[in-house]
This record gives sequence, C-alpha cells and structure tokens, in this order.
Amino acid sequence: MTLNINVPGGKSEITIERGALSEAGRLLDLNRKVLIVTDSGVPSEYSAKVASFCKQPVTVTIEQGEKSKTLANFELLCKTMLENDFTRSDCCVAVGGGVVTDITGFAAACYMRGITFYNIPTTLLSQVDASVGGKTAVDLCGVKNIVGAFHQPEKVIIDPDTLSTLDKRQFSSGMAEAIKMAVSFDSDLFELMENNDISLILDSVISRSVALKASIVMKDERENGLRRTLNFGHTVGHAVETLSGLLHGESVAVGMCFMCSDKVRERLVPLLNKFDLPVSTDIPADELCKVLIHDKKMSGDTINVIRVESIGTCEIRKMPKDEFIKSLGA
Ligand SMILES: NC(=O)c1ccc[n+]([C@@H]2O[C@H](COP(=O)([O-])OP(=O)(O)OC[C@H]3O[C@@H](n4cnc5c(N)ncnc54)[C@H](O)[C@@H]3O)[C@@H](O)[C@H]2O)c1
Repeated sequence: MTLNINVPGGKSEITIERGALSEAGRLLDLNRKVLIVTDSGVPSEYSAKVASFCKQPVTVTIEQGEKSKTLANFELLCKTMLENDFTRSDCCVAVGGGVVTDITGFAAACYMRGITFYNIPTTLLSQVDASVGGKTAVDLCGVKNIVGAFHQPEKVIIDPDTLSTLDKRQFSSGMAEAIKMAVSFDSDLFELMENNDISLILDSVISRSVALKASIVMKDERENGLRRTLNFGHTVGHAVETLSGLLHGESVAVGMCFMCSDKVRERLVPLLNKFDLPVSTDIPADELCKVLIHDKKMSGDTINVIRVESIGTCEIRKMPKDEFIKSLGA
C-alpha cells in the first residue's frame, strides 16, 4: 500500500510492502550520486541491495547505537558528500533504524541547505514511527534530539521482511511505539493487539500505525499542537532512557504507565507484558526530575503532559510541577 504526506515542508510517499526493498531501484530516483548511510548492526545485504541499484553509490557505515547520533557523525556524513562533490541534485538514503534515519535526515536537511533523502527503515520502531514525519536530529551533551530540523523524506520504503533479522528485544521496543499509537488514537487497533498473535497482524499494525502518524503530521507538521500528542510516554520516557540505559521503546513503555488513568493501566500493562516490555522503574522520582529540568522540559511552574484517560483518546494537559512530581511517586 502507498500513503502520502503532503505538508508545507514537502511531500512524502510511503510504500509499505513485503519485498519492497528489492523494488528500491524502481521506487527511488537513484540515477545520481547517492550517499547510503547504514550502521554496523544492520545486515549489510540491505544497504548492498540499495547500492546495486545506484550508478554512483557512496556508503557510510556508522557504529550501531544511540551513541552514534552525534554532531561528529553528522560532520562525517556532510564531509563525505563534500569530498565526493555532491550537489543539490544528489541524494541520501538511510538504511537502518531510527538512529540512522534521524542522522541521515539531518545531514540531508543541512547539506547545501537541503537535499533529497529517502528512508528505508529496518527496525519495527523506525517503520512505525521514526522514518515518517520529517523530524530529524542528533543528540548533544546527553540531551536527546536537541539539534535537528524538520525535513521530509521524499520517499519511505517500509519492507516488513527486513524485520526477520531483528532480535526480539528490538522488536518489542518497536511494539511499544505501535502500542503508543493504539492507546492514544485507535481503540480498535489496541483490541486487535490484545486479541491476536502479533505474527498474524504485523503488517496491519505497521500500516495502521503509519497511517495514524501520517494523518497527525498532515494536520500539524511543526508540532505546534496536535503532533505533541505523539509524545505520549516520552517526557518521562526520555528521562528513563537517559538514566537506565533501557532502549527507546522500553523507556516509552515505562513512561506511558505513569501518564494514564488506572482504568487504562489495567489493560495497558498486560499488553506491554505480552511483549516483555518494562512497566515501572526503580529510578527515584527526584532523579527523573533532575533530568527533566536539564532537558528543559520542566522550566516554569507548569509542565505540559500528554495523558490517556480512556483507550483511543489522549489530551495535552498543563500540570502544576508539584502535581507532576507527585504523579511520579515522590
Ligand atoms: N524522528 C522521529 O520521529 C523519531 C521517532 C521515534 C524515535 N526516534 C529515534 O529513533 C531512535 C531509535 O530507533 P531504533 O529503535 O530503530 O534504534 P536503532 O536505530 O539504534 O536500531 C536498533 C538496533 O537494531 C539494529 N538493526 C537495525 N535494523 C536491523 C535489522 N533489520 N536486523 C537486525 N538488526 C537491525 C541496529 O544496528 C541497532 O543496533 C532513537 O534515537 C529515537 O530518538 C525518532
């Protein structure tokens, strides 16, 4: 299936199809210089497949993991394009998880003030979330995604077959973001996940999650309002991720459990348990708050939080700081 995002910042065409990686030569315009970015944990056959369709491929493989989402690697990507005489009509292709799509998108947003980039996400998390919507970034001084840009990938190729090589823990981390979409916006999808074996509904979980994200991005590309609801579980989640070393999706799973009603938690916790995702943390509330202050998320007397009071709906609420700290169990 194909979905389209059409926003002031650009157009993005998303193809979701088993085997689509082998169609990259047809789906993307690779008849120019192409910077292919991947990481050391992504099976190299995926980036090699893309390179096989290019006349002039240049492949950069960064080290796997969040620690690679740095300005130093951003510089490496820009320098590589410069050294290979890339012009504004050349392009980048990200082949990997959210780390690769975020940093490649940011390099593409900045090189010569913006060149075309394509995403080929290969983790569940990047297929249901990170590769779509045009948010690109790197981390700085321990603060996640603090330097970045909005830059839409011209095309996104989502091939669920690439998930066959992903380990179980990374798969579950991606499920946390899909569960986030369902619990915040789509009670039918939530029920589908509760009642079925994931292997039978995976393609539909991916396409429905992407469709939900696309519709929100179309209404609020720059995250002035509605798009903030996609951050359900992320405020506390980012602090948990920084302090615990848990994966992104695992941290979001913990964060979601703090920000919902008891009624929602009764169904959310068993669904997260189904994927062996964590639902609580031992990190003391004051430690979490210290990171949130550093993250600039808690600078005034109030904090904006996203709450889910009933499955399938969410709201942005301004919460007094004291009440928020109390909700963390302090
Ligand atoms: N831009 C956005 O809108 C957005 C949204 C959500 C998350 N993110 C970002 O995404 C990042 C997390 O992404 P992630 O969970 O994909 O992590 P990741 O990119 O670190 O990938 C996880 C691991 O899986 C490996 N891998 C990738 N594809 C594989 C495959 N097919 N088979 C085997 N191994 C494979 C990678 O080498 C890596 O070790 C975070 O930096 C987060 O901030 C961005």
